[in-house]
Amino acid sequence: MNGVIVTTERLTVRNWAETDRDLFHEINSDPEVMAYFPFRRTRPQSDALFDRIRSTIGETGYGFFAIALSHDDRPIGFCGLARTDLEPVLPDGTVEIGWRLARPHWGKGYVTEAATGLIRHGFTTCGLEEIVAFAVKDNARSIAVMERIGMAADPARDFDHPRVPATHPHLVRHAFYAIRRAAWRQRMAAGIGR
Ligand SMILES: CC(C)(COP(=O)(O)OP(=O)(O)OC[C@H]1O[C@@H](n2cnc3c(N)ncnc32)[C@H](O)[C@@H]1OP(=O)(O)O)[C@@H](O)C(=O)NCCC(=O)NCCS
Repeated sequence: MNGVIVTTERLTVRNWAETDRDLFHEINSDPEVMAYFPFRRTRPQSDALFDRIRSTIGETGYGFFAIALSHDDRPIGFCGLARTDLEPVLPDGTVEIGWRLARPHWGKGYVTEAATGLIRHGFTTCGLEEIVAFAVKDNARSIAVMERIGMAADPARDFDHPRVPATHPHLVRHAFYAIRRAAWRQRMAAGIGR
C-alpha cells in the first residue's frame, strides 16, 4: 500500500488518506484527548493541519503518521517520528516520537505497538542516533507509553514549552524522555520490547 511506514501485528502506520479527515478532527477537538493541550481545533483548522502534515510526510518521511487498524484500514489516531521545531529550546535535528489516540481506542496497547515499530524504523531505516519524547508532567498515560517503549527520563532536559500561553501555566513544564540507538540495541539483544 502506498505511504505505509511500518506494519505491526494489529496496525498499519501510514500517511494520511483523504477519508481520515473526520478522525483527525475528532482527535484534535475532543476535550478528553486534548486535556494536556492549550487549544482545540475547529474543522477548518484541523483540515489545514492535516494538509500540512500529509505533505511533510510525503516530502520528508517524517511527521505524525496515521495509525490504522490493519484488518479494515480504519484510522484510530496518530503516532509519528517528527522533526521538532522548538529552537532554541531543542536543537535543530532533534526527532521526537509523539502520539494521540481517539478515546474509544485507549487501553488496548495500540500506541505502544505503533511506537515500538516506529522506534525500530527510526534507528534502522532512518539511521537516527536518538529519539526523544516530551509531555506535560501530569500526562501520566503518555509518560507511561514512553517508559513502556524503553525511553528514560532525562530531567536535566525538562523544559518550559515556548508555545504554551501564560493563560495555561499548568501546561507549561514538560518532562523530557529519550532513547539512544545503543540502548535500543541492548534492549533488542536482551529480547525486550521486540
Ligand atoms: C497518550 C495515549 C496515546 C496513551 O494511550 P493508551 O491507550 O494509554 O496507551 P497504549 O495504546 O500504549 O495502551 C496501554 C494501555 O493498554 C493496556 N493494554 C492492553 N493490551 C495491551 C497490549 N497488547 N500491549 C500493551 N498494553 C496493552 C495497558 O495495560 C495500558 O492500559 P492502562 O494504562 O489502563 O493500564 C492516550 O491516552 C491519548 O491519546 N492521550 C491524549 C493525547 C495525548 O496526551 N498525547 C500525548 C501528548 S505528549
